[in-house]
Amino acid sequence: MVNQDGAAAPAVRVSKLGYVGFVTPDLDRLVEYYTQVLGFSLVDFSPQGAFVTTGTDHHCVVLTPGEAHARSVVGYEVFEDLADAQRRLSDLGYPVQRRTDIGPGTPDVLVLTEPETGVELHLMTSQDPSGAEGTAPLRPTKLGHVAAFTPDLAPTQAFYQDVLGFKWSDTVGDFFVFLRCNADHHAANFMASRKRTGMHHVAYEMRDPNHLITVLDHLAKHGYRLHWGPGRHGPGHNLFTYHKDPDGNTIELFTQIDQVVDEAKGYWEPRPWHETYPMGPRTWEVDIATVNQWGIVNEQELDH
Ligand SMILES: [Fe+2]
Repeated sequence: MVNQDGAAAPAVRVSKLGYVGFVTPDLDRLVEYYTQVLGFSLVDFSPQGAFVTTGTDHHCVVLTPGEAHARSVVGYEVFEDLADAQRRLSDLGYPVQRRTDIGPGTPDVLVLTEPETGVELHLMTSQDPSGAEGTAPLRPTKLGHVAAFTPDLAPTQAFYQDVLGFKWSDTVGDFFVFLRCNADHHAANFMASRKRTGMHHVAYEMRDPNHLITVLDHLAKHGYRLHWGPGRHGPGHNLFTYHKDPDGNTIELFTQIDQVVDEAKGYWEPRPWHETYPMGPRTWEVDIATVNQWGIVNEQELDH
């Protein structure tokens, strides 16, 4: 396929981050963390796994027992017919299975492999509804983004943009790229590393700063302390905090992430904390203000 401007169209258009998987050595402990500490709703729970949600989607986190492994799977929603998507992906040389046995809430899924990392990716048009009702006071609004290490940034970025239809949002230095699939500044971000693999962090969105503070107080009551933040990132300008889940995975709770309200304009909806007006995709220098406008840097978060 070729766009009107002559550029090749992506094989699929991912429109939404659906879910992320964690394999955990203590399933009950991680289920308790998600439901009692973060306020997620438990939709399905068996010895084979637990499915928790922040809202209408059947699940946004899949917890399965085994040797600890974060970002074991990532599910995305796509905006097209799955048979067409499977054919286009196969034509580009990406083996794809169409499966009906993935698990509850996702009866029709394309399964493929993220090329540089080997992580299993699921593509679906939608999930079944979770049945979760009401507005829980603690529960995040959604799974916001998943950040991961990759051994080689360029091919990973190319796969996400040219094959999955993501758009470039920002890059820090030559090693950290932010990619979007809808109005949110990023749903996937990748840090190049020759020594680190796996997930960098997973991020859940809070309604606003007050909601974030409420949940931080709740975390503290349960013994979960921040190791970085609150602060405000440069790329995405999200107000961020980071803590560890019981397995040691890095969890970001954030709010106020940049929005691309009009893709044709190509810049983020202006905000008082932006560095320039208008403010759009750019390559950022590696300095304190890029990492945290408010001034404190956690070197560990940039170690790659
Ligand atoms: Fe993040």
